[in-house]
Amino acid sequence: MKQDMIVILDLGSHHNTVLARAIRALGVYSEIYPHDITAEELKALPGVKGVIINGGENNVVDGVAIDVHPEIYKTGLPIIAAGHDKALCEVKLPEFTADEEAIKEAVKGFVFDTCGAEANWNMTNFISDQVELIRQQVGDKKVLLALSGGVDSSVVAALLLKAIGDNLVCVHVNHGLMRKGESEAVIEVFGKQLRANLVYVDATDRFLSKLEGVEDPEQKRKIIGGEFIRVFEEEARKLDGIDFLGQGTIYPDIVESGTKTAKMVKSHHNVGGLPDDMQFGLVEPLKQLFKDEVRACGVELGLPYEMVYRQPFPGPGLGVRCLGAITRDRLEAVRESDAILREEFALAGLDKKVWQYFTIVPDFKSVGVRNNARSYDWPVIIRAVNTIDAMTATIEHIDWAILDKITRRILAEVPNVNRVCYDMSPKPSATIEWE
Ligand code: XMP
Repeated sequence: MKQDMIVILDLGSHHNTVLARAIRALGVYSEIYPHDITAEELKALPGVKGVIINGGENNVVDGVAIDVHPEIYKTGLPIIAAGHDKALCEVKLPEFTADEEAIKEAVKGFVFDTCGAEANWNMTNFISDQVELIRQQVGDKKVLLALSGGVDSSVVAALLLKAIGDNLVCVHVNHGLMRKGESEAVIEVFGKQLRANLVYVDATDRFLSKLEGVEDPEQKRKIIGGEFIRVFEEEARKLDGIDFLGQGTIYPDIVESGTKTAKMVKSHHNVGGLPDDMQFGLVEPLKQLFKDEVRACGVELGLPYEMVYRQPFPGPGLGVRCLGAITRDRLEAVRESDAILREEFALAGLDKKVWQYFTIVPDFKSVGVRNNARSYDWPVIIRAVNTIDAMTATIEHIDWAILDKITRRILAEVPNVNRVCYDMSPKPSATIEWE
C-alpha cells in the first residue's frame, strides 16, 4: 500500500469525522471503525500505523458501557485515547470541534512522532491503492454498476474501469426525467471516450406511463424509485456471471445511516435494493471519502469538470419539478427552461457560486398576451439557493439583468410558457424542491 493510515475507533464520539478530516488535512490518511473491531481485523487493515480511540458522549449502548477489545492493545500498534475529557484521555481534543487547526495541533505529535506515519495521503496514492484493493476483491469476476451520471456513480465507474476494465458493466437507466443532455453526456464520456462496457436503457415511456395521472409527490417518488430498481434488475438478469455490485456510497451516506454508536439520522437508499435471490458482493471504493475528496478523485481520474462539479440533482429528477401529474409538454418546459438557466448561470459565473439552481413548472396556467392575442400557458419558476447541508437554505440574490435575460430567453424559446417567476423563499419555510 502506498498510504499510511491512522485508524480512529469510534467509542461514542460525535466528532469522529472532524478528527478524520483533521488527520487527512495533515496529509495522513485516516479511517473510522466501530469500537468492536477485533485485533485481527485491525492488523489486516492496509497501511495502519496507529490507533486513536475516540471517546465521547454516546459510549453507552443499550444500557451497557462499551469498550474496545483488550487484544487490540497487544497488536504492537501505537494506541492513544482521545476525547474532550482530560482526566480520561491522553490527548485532549479542543471543545470547539470545528477548529481543525487546533485538532491538528493536538494529534500531530502522535501521528508523526509516535506512529511514524508519513504524509503520503493524496489522490494519486489513493487511486493506486484502491485499484489494487479492487483487483484483490474482484479478481477476474464481473462488477455491475448503476451509472446515473451523478458525481458519485461517475467517479466509481471511472475508478472501477481503471481497476478491472471490461469486467465492469455499467447500466445507465434513462427514466426520461434527466436534465437536457445528461444521458448523452454519460454515453459520450463512458461509452465513447472511456470505452466502458455500457448498457444504455431508454425507459422513458415506461416511467411516464407508470406516472400518468399520479399527483402526489411521495407517490411519484415511490413509483420512480421502485421502477428504477425493476428496470435495473431486469438488465442484471440478462447479464451472465455477475458476482459484484459496484456502488457509489460515500462517507456521509454511511454516517447518515448511523454508526454503531451514533443515532440514525436518515435511512440511506442506494441502488442496493435488489431481490434476495440475486446475491452480489458489494464494491464500494469511495465509502471512506468526503464529497470534496470524491470530486478530487474524479478530476484525477480524468473525468470532465462539469461532471465532477455539477450541482446536486435529486434521484426522481425533473419528476419532482414538473409539479402534480407529469405531462410531456410540461416536462419538456422544465427541461428546456432548466437548460437555459444552467447555460446563463455558467455564462455569468454563477454555476461556481450557487449551490443549487433549477426551474419548476406548476400544474396551473395563467393568462397572457402573445402576438396580440390572448394566451393561456404555463408559468416557469426559477429557484436558486445556497446552503451548507441542505437542512436550511437562503436564496441567491441574482443580478436583475441576469434574471431579465433568462426570463426573455425562456419566454422566447420554451413553448407553452408565458410567465417567469423567481422564488424568494428561504428554507424554512419552504423546502429547496417544490415537491
Ligand atoms: P428539500 O426539498 O428537502 O431538498 O429542501 C434538500 C435537498 O435534497 C434534494 N432532494 C432529493 N434528493 N431524492 C434525492 O436524491 C429525493 O427524493 C429528493 N428530494 C429532495 C434536493 O434537490 C436538495 O438538494
